[in-house]
Amino acid sequence: APTRVLVLSASLRADSLNTRLASLVAHLVRDTGATVELARMGEFPMPLYDADAEVAEGLPEGTRALRDRLAACDAFVIASPEYNASLPGGLKNAIDWVSRAGPQPFKDKHALLVSASPSLVGGNRGLWALRIPLEHLGTRVYPDMFSLARAHEGFTDDGALVDTGLQERLAEAVTSFLRLVEADTRYVCLQRR
Ligand code: FNR
Repeated sequence: APTRVLVLSASLRADSLNTRLASLVAHLVRDTGATVELARMGEFPMPLYDADAEVAEGLPEGTRALRDRLAACDAFVIASPEYNASLPGGLKNAIDWVSRAGPQPFKDKHALLVSASPSLVGGNRGLWALRIPLEHLGTRVYPDMFSLARAHEGFTDDGALVDTGLQERLAEAVTSFLRLVEADTRYVCLQRR
């Protein structure tokens, strides 16, 4: 069966640079023969995490929906903005809520992290911060991360990267990430026999 990949944009903004990057990654994933689903954080609204609300009402609908989407994939990609040199609070809040689900879907899943920003750093510090909760939850975060600097002028009208060298690097990162995911999936299947 083809590898199932969820590509999630962590921005809520309609004209988001990270959603553009997520769409491009989704195309590259599809090119490898994997199946891909594109999602945006705005599809999973949830309040600020509150342990009292969790006890009284259980997990919010948005949390359960995101948990189900993650559980249904073999691997996921997050395209995340960098806010104040870290990950956006909304994304951290979503990770905290979803981590309360049983079984929590981050464990043993492979993830590729990408970012886009108008700045010169491209949001890379936000991805380093995002690694911490994900690795804590058992996600195998791919060592190579991709950050698009000056992203407001980085895309062509049809959604590719203006810099063809960078486009190639991104395609290579996606391909080698999926090769690892497929090798690992095969290994797990063999072990289960
Ligand atoms: C930012 N932005 C930003 N960019 C960056 O490269 N490093 C940073 O630390 C920050 N900090 C930051 C904080 C806050 C509160 C906001 C609202 C923005 C700019 C950010 O990269 C820019 O708004 C992107 O366009 C956000 O990504 P989307 O929404 O276009 O995907």
